[in-house]
Order: sequence, then C-alpha cells, then structure tokens
Amino acid sequence: MELAKRTAEDIWIAPSLLAADFAHLADEIRVVESARADLLHLDIMDGHFVPNLTIGPAVVKSIRPMTKLPFDAHLMITDPLKYAPSFAQAGADNITFHAECASDMAATARQIRSLGVSVGVSVNPETSAEVIFEVLEEVDLVLVMSVHPGFGGQEFMPEVLEKVKTLRQRMRADQWLQIDGGIDAKTIGEATAAGANCFVAGNAVFRADDPAKAIQDMRATAQQCIV
Ligand code: DX5
Ligand code: ZN
Repeated sequence: MELAKRTAEDIWIAPSLLAADFAHLADEIRVVESARADLLHLDIMDGHFVPNLTIGPAVVKSIRPMTKLPFDAHLMITDPLKYAPSFAQAGADNITFHAECASDMAATARQIRSLGVSVGVSVNPETSAEVIFEVLEEVDLVLVMSVHPGFGGQEFMPEVLEKVKTLRQRMRADQWLQIDGGIDAKTIGEATAAGANCFVAGNAVFRADDPAKAIQDMRATAQQCIV
C-alpha cells in the first residue's frame, strides 16, 4: 500500500504516537482513528542520531492489526537502510529517512521504495532546503522538522517556514510537504500558508481533552489557510 496522492485541497493530519499513553496504545490508536486522523506518525529514534529511544519494529508489528490508518514511519536513525526493511515488514506504509543520515539520498530513496512503501526525506531545522533539491524527484513526501528531533512537546520554530516555502515551489502538486514539531491549532495556519499540507501533531492531539475536536480545529484552520 502506498500513500494516497494528494490533491490541492487535501490536508492530512498525522497524530504522533510518541505523545500517546504507551500503556494503552490500542485505545489511543482507536481514539485518533475515530477522530478521523489521516495517518499515524511513528517516531523511530535510535539513541544515536537523536538523544532518545522509542519504538522498534516489534511494536509496529503488534499495533498493525489494530487500525486501518496508514503508518508513517519517521526514521530518526543513523543507518536508515539497515532498519527500513524491518519497518516495511512490520507494516509501515511510508518510510521517511533523514537527509543528514544518507550519503547518497537518491539511492537510499530508491532502496526504500523497493520495499513496497512510499518514501519521504526529512531535514532538520539547520539543514537547508538546497540539500534535498537533488532527491525531490525520488520521494513522495518531504518532512521539514520544525523542532530539533528527539522529543515531543517542544516549541514550534517559525524560522523553518522560509524553507517550507522554498520547497513547495520546487515540489509537484501531488507530493506531500509534511511539517513536524510544535504543530497545533495556532501554528498550523502559518505552516499551511507557507505550503505544508501534512501535519504531524503529538501533544496537540493526544494530550487534548478532546482529540477529535483538536484534529477538527486544526484541519479547519489549515483549510482556511491553503495558498
Ligand atoms: C520529534 C518528533 C515529532 C514529535 C511531535 O522528534 O519527530 O513527531 O513527536 O510532537 P509534538 O507535536 O508534541 O511537538
Ligand atoms: Zn516525527
């Protein structure tokens, strides 16, 4: 299965499971699925590329039967090609690698695609848009980090919005431009106006009193700000 191609009016909300209650993953996933999330974002950290450890393929495999939501695996790991096959096997639908972790981005994207998944490339806040120009034709999704990766609950960095604008101009209309970190009903408007159309939100969804309303509010604000 691949990520659906986007059309101009599509807005995708991708709750990040990192902010969920790990003692009740099944319940938490059910909540966001019935709240009409579009993707489930899975933050995979290796304690090397980022100073934190999260979940591995075994957890992804055990939550796969619990939902029909596409799984969007964000690999914050130094050696993405070593582990991408296990995540594809475990049920990831999209696999995003970091530009900072690939010496040959095009080859990395092609190898990930050969696993039968769609492919994303991600850039940290300090990595410029130009670094990934060469690989844009090879990916379905570009992920702009709007916090330093490693932890949920950080403050949105508005300085990455220029990078979002630059990338949007270079990307095809059917590609996803995802933004991740500090996204909520306040920050989603400016991110949409800059050209993002796929929004990762951890705390703003899972820690909300009413996750369904949180998703609805974010989507409504984004829809008003589509450029
Ligand atoms: C950070 C992760 C994000 C993060 C988002 O390294 O990639 O997905 O969990 O969490 P919030 O929305 O709480 O900033
Ligand atoms: Zn993420």
